[in-house]
Parts: sequence; C-alpha cells; structure tokens
Amino acid sequence: MLSEQNLNQTMLNAEQLSSLKEAIGTYSPLQLAWASGYLAAKSEGTSVASLPTASGAKASSTLTILYGSQTGNAKGVAKSLADQATAQGLSVDLKSMGEFKPKSIKNVTHLLIVASTNGEGEAPDDAIALHEFLASKKAPKLESLQYSVLALGDTSYEFFCQTGKDFDEYLSKLGAKAITPRVDCDVDYEEAAAAWSQEIIAKTKDLLGESEVASNVVAMPTTGAASQYTKQNPYSAELSVSQKITGRDSAKDVRHVEIDLGESGLTYQVGDALGVWFENDEALVDELIATLNLSASESVNVANETLTLKEALVSALEITQTSVNFVTFWAEQSKDKALLALAQDKNAAREYAANHQVVDVVKAAPASVETQVFVDALRKITPRLYSIASSQAEMEEEVHLTVGLVEYDENGQTRSGGASSFLGKRLEEGGAVKVFVEHNDNFRLPSDGNTPVIMIGPGTGIAPFRAFMQEREATEATGDNWLFFGDQTFTQDFLYQVEWQGYLKSGLLTNIDLAFSRDQAEKIYVQDRLREKAAEVYAWLERGAHLYICGDMSRMAKDVETALIDIIAEHGNKTNEEAQQYLKDLRNAKRYQKDVY
Ligand SMILES: Cc1cc2nc3c(=O)[nH]c(=O)nc-3n(C[C@H](O)[C@H](O)[C@H](O)COP(=O)(O)OP(=O)(O)OC[C@H]3O[C@@H](n4cnc5c(N)ncnc54)[C@H](O)[C@@H]3O)c2cc1C
Ligand SMILES: Cc1cc2nc3c(=O)[nH]c(=O)nc-3n(C[C@H](O)[C@H](O)[C@H](O)COP(=O)(O)O)c2cc1C
Repeated sequence: MLSEQNLNQTMLNAEQLSSLKEAIGTYSPLQLAWASGYLAAKSEGTSVASLPTASGAKASSTLTILYGSQTGNAKGVAKSLADQATAQGLSVDLKSMGEFKPKSIKNVTHLLIVASTNGEGEAPDDAIALHEFLASKKAPKLESLQYSVLALGDTSYEFFCQTGKDFDEYLSKLGAKAITPRVDCDVDYEEAAAAWSQEIIAKTKDLLGESEVASNVVAMPTTGAASQYTKQNPYSAELSVSQKITGRDSAKDVRHVEIDLGESGLTYQVGDALGVWFENDEALVDELIATLNLSASESVNVANETLTLKEALVSALEITQTSVNFVTFWAEQSKDKALLALAQDKNAAREYAANHQVVDVVKAAPASVETQVFVDALRKITPRLYSIASSQAEMEEEVHLTVGLVEYDENGQTRSGGASSFLGKRLEEGGAVKVFVEHNDNFRLPSDGNTPVIMIGPGTGIAPFRAFMQEREATEATGDNWLFFGDQTFTQDFLYQVEWQGYLKSGLLTNIDLAFSRDQAEKIYVQDRLREKAAEVYAWLERGAHLYICGDMSRMAKDVETALIDIIAEHGNKTNEEAQQYLKDLRNAKRYQKDVY
C-alpha cells in the first residue's frame, strides 16, 4: 500500500495539475487515449525518440493482434492482451480474423494470434478465410514477420488446438519467425493465457523497442458499447420459468427456460447465446466426498481462494465432466491396472473421460488421496452456452432458452449434466442464476428482411429459429421462412408445436418440413426431408436464401451438409467439387451459417 508521503510524491501538485489540464483541454478522446499511452511509456523510461505524429505511425511499429473465436473465449483473451499491450505503450491493432484482409498479412511485422478450434479440428467461422489463405498457394513469403500463437482448445477433442497448431505451422512454413513457442490451452485456459500474454508483451516490447518505436501508441478500435456484465462478471438474473416441453412418454426431457434480465441493461440479438454459470448438485458432491473418504469442511485452495472442500466442489470445480488429464491422474493415484492401460491409449482415455463423471472414475478404481492434491487435479468450472430462443424485440428483458437435460444411467444411478440439470431441475423458479450474453456475429438473420431463410434445427437446434421468427414478426420482415425440424416422435417431441402451427397459419412461416425418426419403421431425419425437397431447396438458394443449421455437430450437421452438397450438385448440374465450392461461397458471403455443438 502507498504511504501518505509516497502518495503525495506520486500525485501532481496544484500547479502541475493545472498545466496538465490546460495542455489536454483541447484533446479529442482519441488524442487523450494516445497521450495516456505516451505517458505510460514515458513513466517506464521507454524511448520516445520516434514518437509518431497524427500523420500516422510507421507500419513496423504496430503490434497486430488477430483472434479467431467461435464462442468468445479467444476474443476475450485477445482483448485483454490488447489492453495490456496498450497500457505498456505498444501500438496495437486488434481485429477479429474475419475483419482482417488475408492478403494484408504481408504488411504485418509483429503478429499475435489467439485462435480457438471449432467443429472437429476446424477453424472458427471468423478464422476460416485467413486459415485457408495461409495454407494456399496464394500465401506470400513472410520472412519479415515475427509472431506468436496462443491456441485455445479442449483435450477432450481428438484434434486438440488444431487451428492454433495450423496457424503456427503455416506461418513458420512461410518463413515467419516465432517469438515464443506456441502455447496450447485446455478448457481452463485463463492462467496459461495470462502467463503467455505477460511473456509475449515483454518480448514484443523488446523487439519493437529495438527499432525505437516502442512508445508509439494508437487507440484501440472501439467495438461498440460493451455490457458491464461479462463471463468474468456475470449478472445474477432470476429464473422465471423452467417448463418441460417434451411429452410424458418422451425419451427426452427438454425444458423451456425463461430468465429475467431485470434492470441489468443486458442486450442480445437473435443468434446470440446465453452463458450460464451453474452449481453442481450437492447430493453428487456428498457422494464424491464420501467415496473419497474426505472431510467436506476441510479448507482447500482454488485459484487463490480458500473454500471448504464442499464449497469448492459445488461451485468452483468441474465434477460432471471428466478430463483426460484427470483419468491419467487417477490411474497413477490408484495404480489400477485397467485404468493405467487405458491412460496409455489417448483415444481410449478420451472416450472413457467422455462417458464417466469424476465420481464414477474414482468409484471404479478406489484410492486414497490428499484433499488439495485431488482438488488440483480437477478443472475449474466453466459456464455452458445456450442458443437464445427469444427476440428482445418481443420479449424485452426476458431471455428464453431450450435446454435438453443430459441424463443417463450409470450402474443403476442417474447421472446428470451439471448445467442442464441445474437449470432444468435443481434451481427453483425465482432462484438466481449468473448469466452473460455471448454475441455471435456468425449466426445472424439477413439484414434485408425480404431475403428468404431456410432453417434446419432438429432437437434443441430449434432454439435460435424460434428467436428468428419472433424477430421476423416484430420487424415485419416479408422474406419467406422455411423450417426443417425433427426429433423422435410427433406426439412427444414436437418442440413449440403450437407456435409453429400459429406461424404457419398466419403465413409468417412459408414451409415446414418435419422428420420424426421413430414414427415409422424406417428412420427419417431432416437430411432426408431436404433431399425430398431438393429442387425447391436449390431454387430458394438460387433466389438468395440464407441457410442456417443449428444443433448436433457430430452427426446431424455433417449429414445435412452432405445432403446439401448432393442437392446443389444434382440441381445445379455441378460436380461434387463445384457443389462444395458453391457452399463455400455461400459461407463466405455469410449466407450459410452454423450454430452447432
Ligand atoms: C454455442 C452453443 C450453443 C448451445 N446451445 C444449446 C441449446 O440451445 N440447448 C441445449 O440443450 N444445449 C446447448 N448447447 C450445449 C450446452 O452448452 C451444454 O453442453 C449441455 O447442456 C450439456 O451441459 P451439462 O452441463 O448439462 O452437461 P455436462 O456436465 O457438460 O456433461 C455431463 C457429462 O456427461 C457425459 N454424458 C452425456 N451423456 C452420457 C451418456 N449417455 N453416457 C455417459 N456419459 C454421458 C458427457 O460427455 C459429459 O461429460 C450449446 C452449446 C454451445 C457450444
Ligand atoms: C462445438 C465445439 C467444437 C469444438 N471442437 C474442438 C476441437 O476439435 N478441438 C479442440 O481442441 N477444441 C475444440 N473445442 C473447444 C474450444 O476450442 C474451446 O472451448 C475454446 O476455449 C473456445 O474458444 P472460443 O470461445 O474463442 O471459440 C470445441 C468447442 C465447441 C463448443
């Protein structure tokens, strides 16, 4: 803490303050931002020999930060990195890869990439163009480029951090020099990302300092009014409704959830997702503590916070998802032969982790463990995302979700997903839930309301399309709307049936095609319905329709894409490659968008 004397020394005296005020009185906000960086650099004794004038900075003085982000994590890391770099007196150009012209990479000298991986080892939507360009023959030599990559991913996926790895490889092949080795982060990326940010800023400062331009500061681009509520600082909202919308005899339990955003001022657009923080089930926590023979009241440390073991397991640590690292840890801890063998085989370990919660891993191979050692082996809890199922134009301060409860049987016991059971079962109506809005500019209605849209959303994939329809109705958009929906049975699983029938009756919904897989002997899915309507689907695309897919990533989205390529090839008289290119062009024109998970 500063003593009073130190405080006086650090503050300006009245005369100094008055001359400072006079000097900056005429500055624009941009000039003020520039000046603050200049002063920060000066206070650190950085060279100011080649300060830029308003006529522009030297190209080589700028640190370019590009992010590729599907659900906001990489974007958040990149923004915080840019803030820190700016505060350290660096000139920063922060952009989403989607806003960056791939060809202009040849003008960049210092580049930091923060990229997540999406799909199955695929680049996030905003990174696709740059990713493709750097891998193509068109990519220029980049011998004067220095770079570093922070890759975000999840070890439970086969292609861990693939996009970050690709960027690193492509840049290196083009002759660029890595400033620091790439860092690959798992789901709890915060600590590793902070350490990488600190190191890379220090190194970049040295590099830019060598060319005597380290004090060059420009204001960061503004990205619109940001809410004060974020992933790190969520809003404590109220759960107003959690209602089962599948029938009594359905094999699935899907909940329509309404959350009251109250006075938060939180805004969302249709296509966005809601981030939901949750608490683990106390009964599951008790079962885990009892299995481990530990004491619920023992103090543990999680991210520099002291909690009881029970508190930590309820609100700070993941126990419904198991990581491969935890499986390996527990194999070593228990010395269980089967688990040790499994841990040697990456694919088998991944598969086992995906199908067993922490409590079932420790039950299968009993061992004693020290409390803090066990806590350190678990991941920090992460919020889950849910596609928003309402339009604020109609619902104002409410936000609606369509939540499928994750539930399965493990040795006669029901195991549930952490967040879905919190929202759907444990939290009482009126209870508090911490939320934030995750904007998704890669899943947006066409700006022209006359444009037709085709929406393919089986199961909970229906959620954003309910929001789309509310928005199209509220904005009196005249474009045609076509929905493909599917699930197991018509009577039990037709989500929001009454609403869809109402839209059909009013004419807002032009076409609806339904695929209920278990209502007849042979299985029928949305991709089959698309094929049945192939000529019409192609005609809609030819007249400018935007195409959307939401829901299951592992099978549905792939099968639908294959069907679309076949449809385009057949009705557009194209080869398979040409049809793929047609779909790529639609994607690049933002006419083909996916929200799959
Ligand atoms: C952008 C985005 C949008 C999304 N939108 C929606 C949406 O609109 N609606 C929706 O419902 N979900 C949506 N999701 C998925 C959602 O975020 C959660 O992943 C989902 O609700 C499960 O979370 P959970 O915490 O309940 O389960 P977790 O606690 O995350 O999972 C429980 C564990 O159980 C395992 N498991 C599941 N089934 C079995 C089984 N049969 N046998 C053995 N193990 C099993 C899982 O692999 C997992 O390890 C979306 C995801 C993303 C990324
Ligand atoms: C639908 C989906 C697919 C994913 N696929 C992969 C993958 O193939 N490999 C990987 O390492 N991580 C994968 N991840 C994990 C993300 O990369 C990770 O959660 C990351 O922090 C997300 O960052 P973002 O929010 O910037 O997109 C996937 C996540 C989602 C939601």
